[in-house]
Amino acid sequence: MDSAEVLGQIPIFASLGNEDRRSLARQIDRRSFQKGTLLFRRGEAGDALYIIIRGQIRIFASTRQGNEITLALLGVGEFFGEMALLDGQPRSANAETTEGTELHILQRDNFFSFLMHKETALRAILYALSRRLRRTDDLLTEACFLQISHRLARKLVELSQTVEAATGSPASYEIFTTQREMAGLIGATRESVNKELTVLRRKGLVQTSRSRITVRDLERLKRRTR
Ligand code: CMP
Repeated sequence: MDSAEVLGQIPIFASLGNEDRRSLARQIDRRSFQKGTLLFRRGEAGDALYIIIRGQIRIFASTRQGNEITLALLGVGEFFGEMALLDGQPRSANAETTEGTELHILQRDNFFSFLMHKETALRAILYALSRRLRRTDDLLTEACFLQISHRLARKLVELSQTVEAATGSPASYEIFTTQREMAGLIGATRESVNKELTVLRRKGLVQTSRSRITVRDLERLKRRTR
């Protein structure tokens, strides 16, 4: 597929006509990155927007002591790096690839002229920002008011439902993640996630191995989220 065709499959560009798509494709870089590449760090100056064509990006924050929280996992068709462009501040978080990833890279000036000319693109960016803020609000509320056992059960149910959507109704749900990543996703420490998983394992709700959690009884797990 050439770049103009790829752009047509990405939500923020889908409404562009052929001509606009071709002209934008000429202004955009297309680059591939290996798994585990750090694209930028929080605090760096940012002058480009990234759009995911293939692969996955982890957006995360970290402390000097080495603790990390995963703010978002972004997939094909999603974009990141818009905040530093919009407010002129440094990057708000770190971004790394979690698998082999291909990105479109749009420089600041091209990003703004695109936004100013296409109302649908402006709407798509505002829509995505609102959705991200809602998710962050949910995370903050959960972190303040819900116990780790609830947060973990909720996240496991959510991820199992993603597996279900992709594969139908399997007998068990395989979630490929490490305990450290899971801790980052729910704003907890790895040790507390490990403790909770031990409880769930003893009750027969999950099985665990090095980088996989298998949910064996989704219905009973759902009851723990209420
Ligand atoms: P920017 O601040 O330029 O660089 C880091 C990027 O991570 C940021 O733009 C957003 O695109 C993205 N980002 C930051 N916080 C979140 C979040 N809570 N959810 C999804 N994406 C985020």
